[in-house]
Amino acid sequence: MTKRLPDFPWDSLADHAAKARAHPGGVVDLSIGTPVDEVPDLIQRALASVADQPGYPTTHGTPELRGSVVGALARRHGVTGLDPEDVLPTIGSKELVAWLPTLLGLGPGDVVAIPALAYPTYEVGAKLAGATPVRLADGEPPPEGTRLVWLNSPSNPTGRVQDAATLAQAVRDARDVGAVVASDECYLALPWEAEPVSVLRPEVNGGALDGLLAVHSLSKTSSLAGYRAGFVTGDPALVAALLEVRKHAGMIVPRPVQAAMTAALDDDAHVAAQRERYRARREVLLPALKSAGFSVDHSEAGLYLWSTRDEDAWDTVGWLAERGILAAPGTFYGPTGDRHVRIALTATDERVARAAERLAG
Ligand SMILES: Cc1ncc(COP(=O)(O)O)c(C=O)c1O
Repeated sequence: MTKRLPDFPWDSLADHAAKARAHPGGVVDLSIGTPVDEVPDLIQRALASVADQPGYPTTHGTPELRGSVVGALARRHGVTGLDPEDVLPTIGSKELVAWLPTLLGLGPGDVVAIPALAYPTYEVGAKLAGATPVRLADGEPPPEGTRLVWLNSPSNPTGRVQDAATLAQAVRDARDVGAVVASDECYLALPWEAEPVSVLRPEVNGGALDGLLAVHSLSKTSSLAGYRAGFVTGDPALVAALLEVRKHAGMIVPRPVQAAMTAALDDDAHVAAQRERYRARREVLLPALKSAGFSVDHSEAGLYLWSTRDEDAWDTVGWLAERGILAAPGTFYGPTGDRHVRIALTATDERVARAAERLAG
């Protein structure tokens, strides 16, 4: 079989990981955004409450879950007018990102536009479908032949927030070439210095959901990465088309996870508490990095500090690894990331404190 996917980026970190692990105080792994805090009790209880499930769950999700999605988007992000019918649970959002081009029927000759610096799975998804990924510079309109445009504000890896006017222009540009817009909003509930806005808001979409999908994840906001819990919503015709294929393909969220998601979406207190944990870690790491001579760009929201020592990204990864800190080189996200590293806020308070000490030297 000819190789059609890139090497898994994190494999190339193995030597630096070994060096960081050898630090006498143990590694502080800030290279991946995996949550470390406990799953809130109310969510664990909801999961366990439906353990006796001999039958198949529905691909569309329970009406309760879809109603809870609509409620949470309204309360948390000011999104109104959504019909629960147009909500579809996903097995985490990564699978949807990876398979969306395929599920939409894209193939050879079709272009999938992704940000210049982007979550690697957008490119992977285009390649799985046999489509062509094209990286767009800021504000660059998608070329003719683009069938899908990925937006991601707040961004992984840069933490950049695009304002409503900028996103609205991106939506207009995509519509001009007849492309679907998929807005990956998994960091929407983690604002620090700017207020992110959903593509589902009228100031972004001009009051119509045509051609739009918003992709959401419960992994970060509810510490549910282990449950695989996400959803997609937006244009009713697109959601119906996705549902149709996903039914055929068996892409079904387990029923206990559907119950856990419902409980998580109905409760905002644990989301606020989790946000404050990340805020506290950011308030330790950000000044520590700056004192150690780093510049931190963007990073107004989300789980990453997009940091540079104005040198090659791998040199910075090596410098940090010597101090027992593991970070991801910016090149994992695109060629223009070659002078940055991505430092995640997803470590325990204790590990984050150790990282700050080591940065202080
Ligand atoms: C931008 C972005 N999208 C999607 C995902 C996937 O999240 P999950 O599959 O856990 O929902 C991630 C995970 O880090 C991400 O950073």
